[in-house]
Amino acid sequence: MNISYKFDFNLFDSFQDMCFVISEKGEILVLNKAVYNTLKFTPGNLVGQNFFDLIEPSFIAKAQQVMNFCVKENRSENFYTKFNSGGKVFDINMSIIPYNFSSKAGNQKEFFILAKDITDLRLKEIELMRFYYVAQNTVNPVQIVDLQGKMVYVNPAFVQASGYSKEELIGKNPNIFSSGKHSKKFWQKMWNTINSGKVWFGEVENQKKNGEAFYTQILISPILDNEGKVTGFFGIHRDLSEKKLLEKQLIHTQKMESIGTLAAGVAHEVGNPLASISALVQVVQRSTTDDFAKEKLELIKKQVTRISKIIRDLVDFSRPSNYELQLTDINQNIVEAVEIIKVGAKAKDIIFDLDLNKKIPLLPLISDQIQQIFVNILLNAVDAIAEVENSNSRNKISVKSDTNDDNVIISFSDSGTGIPEENLAKVFEPFYTTKKEGKGTGLGLWVSYGIVKSFQGDIKVTSSLKKGTTFTITLPIQP
Ligand SMILES: Nc1ncnc2c1ncn2[C@@H]1O[C@H](COP(=O)(O)OP(=O)(O)OP(=O)(O)O)[C@@H](O)[C@H]1O
Ligand SMILES: [Mg+2]
Repeated sequence: MNISYKFDFNLFDSFQDMCFVISEKGEILVLNKAVYNTLKFTPGNLVGQNFFDLIEPSFIAKAQQVMNFCVKENRSENFYTKFNSGGKVFDINMSIIPYNFSSKAGNQKEFFILAKDITDLRLKEIELMRFYYVAQNTVNPVQIVDLQGKMVYVNPAFVQASGYSKEELIGKNPNIFSSGKHSKKFWQKMWNTINSGKVWFGEVENQKKNGEAFYTQILISPILDNEGKVTGFFGIHRDLSEKKLLEKQLIHTQKMESIGTLAAGVAHEVGNPLASISALVQVVQRSTTDDFAKEKLELIKKQVTRISKIIRDLVDFSRPSNYELQLTDINQNIVEAVEIIKVGAKAKDIIFDLDLNKKIPLLPLISDQIQQIFVNILLNAVDAIAEVENSNSRNKISVKSDTNDDNVIISFSDSGTGIPEENLAKVFEPFYTTKKEGKGTGLGLWVSYGIVKSFQGDIKVTSSLKKGTTFTITLPIQP
């Protein structure tokens, strides 16, 4: 059975897309209304013209190539091209369909051409690409979550801040970051806000993959479709971790400063009466012949000396030193401090491992004070090693000195008991000690802290229980 259809080309006038029939040479034979509507030509004046005149010159060669290919293979092709009409450039998705218009003499080829104007679509695409580029490259972590609460997009900043890889995040619910620090009500309120199409803004403590806290300020906004229906949510974060850390450090510094002021006051108030007591004891001791009284006065003197030492430490912390700065050889001070410590009975089984960078510059410091810090830290290290039960062969204290462009860095590591996490911040506080009564005053590190700060330096501690502790001192080369 042979069914043949006869179409009127006017049928294509109701098409949104442009339709042409052109000859093998490119002469436009017929076109539909969409051509006029899109390219803004008055009807009639395109028929008989060359189709290739419509094409943006840089795309003509390609269009011809595709046409030849279509003829050769006797198949249709789709490709991207541009029209240039009346000075305006159009992005076009073009289909070329070759066919034999057999009613004409011979076997003449003609082409049916369908041209879809995708200029607006391309603009949208470019706009999207722009936003994608911004999202990919911003330092702010960005995430997009679908209606089921699954992450469908995370940017590199988010990957970095969370510590998870992109693959680990896509498809997961953001509650994998939950630190458990916020109540159910807190999150309920957030969901209520964004589900109702509003923007939510808040500060959140999340948890990174490695368990560390990840503080952020988040703005979560619903993504709406054309009808105003929520289709998902995007969150933009501001990483607050650094800010929180600085805040903590500032609070710590301020605390130390106020303690310093208080201590200076107390030292002053106690120091004067103490000096009188000391003087009176000596007077009485000299004038009495009673042995019992003499013996007890000797005890009083000892206790007074002990108190005086504490008072001196307190003053050391808070008073700017009267000593003059002198160019100080840090390495020499380390070696001397180690020599002093080695003399002690507790240190006899400890290996001291020194790794000193000979290139570190001399620093304007007060040598005695620097040595006091080193001796303090080394004494603590020896004590911490002595505390370890069954301590045997692995008793070691490593001291390292090094330099970068701006600082000299000195670190003391021991294989001692370590310090529990919750006590780490306390070790620099005055009178904090875990040593037996009469053994430690808890002022050693506090005084060290005060001295290091007076040279614009810094002292930090890291520790791991049962493994050991490291104190790191940083001193600026140009304070
Ligand atoms: N290397 C260390 N290993 C383990 N714990 C340490 C170490 N260094 C310091 N500590 C802890 O910090 C506390 C405070 O140290 P700090 O030097 O300020 O005082 P102290 O040694 O107890 O007394 P002082 O130095 O005044 O005689 C110590 O009691 C100890 O608990
Ligand atoms: Mg100490």
